[in-house]
Amino acid sequence: MNFLKGKDFLKLLDFSSEEIGKLIDLAGELKAKKKNGEPHEYCKGKNIALIFEKTSTRTRCSFEVAAHDLGMHVTYLDPTGSQIGKKESIADTARVLSGIYDGIEYRGYGQEIVEELAKYSKVPVWNGLTNEFHPTQILADFLTIKEHFGYLKGIKFVYMGDARFNMANSLMVGCAKMGLDFVACAPEKYFPNKELTEICKEIAKENGSTITFEADPDKAVKGANVIYTDVWVSMGEPTDVWAQRIEDLSPYQVNKAIMSKAAENAVFMHCLPAYHDLKTTIGREMGERFGRDAMEVTNEVFESEQSIVFQEAENRMHTIKAVMLATL
Ligand code: CP
Ligand code: NVA
Repeated sequence: MNFLKGKDFLKLLDFSSEEIGKLIDLAGELKAKKKNGEPHEYCKGKNIALIFEKTSTRTRCSFEVAAHDLGMHVTYLDPTGSQIGKKESIADTARVLSGIYDGIEYRGYGQEIVEELAKYSKVPVWNGLTNEFHPTQILADFLTIKEHFGYLKGIKFVYMGDARFNMANSLMVGCAKMGLDFVACAPEKYFPNKELTEICKEIAKENGSTITFEADPDKAVKGANVIYTDVWVSMGEPTDVWAQRIEDLSPYQVNKAIMSKAAENAVFMHCLPAYHDLKTTIGREMGERFGRDAMEVTNEVFESEQSIVFQEAENRMHTIKAVMLATL
């Protein structure tokens, strides 16, 4: 099961299609074991550290529960609870923690930070989200798509909204690796960066799929099997970008009209958290300021039969468990 023993999990570009497929399958097996109440403490006695420089619900809980299920102990370092970056460099932190722990999860800002941590760590480092990539999320998304449709290759996957950040980047790489047709639907200035796009187009070609960008939502969603979106303003961005984002991205909100133009079997997905109503502090504040009752997705779509977001969220735990088991 530890077919990636000793490897870091920093971005999907570092893995072959076969390895990604094996991680998704392993997650499915571990999910079945958990549902059947079969113990699977394959990493008994090991210890892991979770470093979060940004907040989290799903990723933190998934790492903690997955670690416990595998028989491991966990230390959680919150955005204020360690010396990292303030009094101690990433290189020093890596050398200290890898002497104590068997694996290290890191969520933070630039991808170069997690890469640096991995460079100096003697034990596997797992990326729990950076500004550029969120690779464990994609494994959960693809396990969910596979559970729902039975396959990945040939799925038309449309990402709506700000396609320059961690989610669209990682989904584009994931789709290219696993043979899904990826469409980023956004105004041109929100398209993913050219260099990554070129790399993904090459990978997609090898796997018989396509990477395209489309500014017109009606055209983009035609025949789509999966419609995916993410928040318009990500963690770590200043709040004063909200006004411009709302103005630019409102036509890309996932609503009933958009869903009705997709394939009949289309599902709605979102990494979460989502601004689909006014029940959160930021959602309410921005809603009142800009006179809106939702941002990137309407409550109607979020709560609809087509929405598989909570199955997707649960799969974070099973896929993160697979990543730890495969690399430890
Ligand atoms: N999707 C996701 O990473 O959620 P959290 O920020 O709650 O971890
Ligand atoms: N783009 C979002 C993803 C959250 C899981 C963010 O970085 O805040």
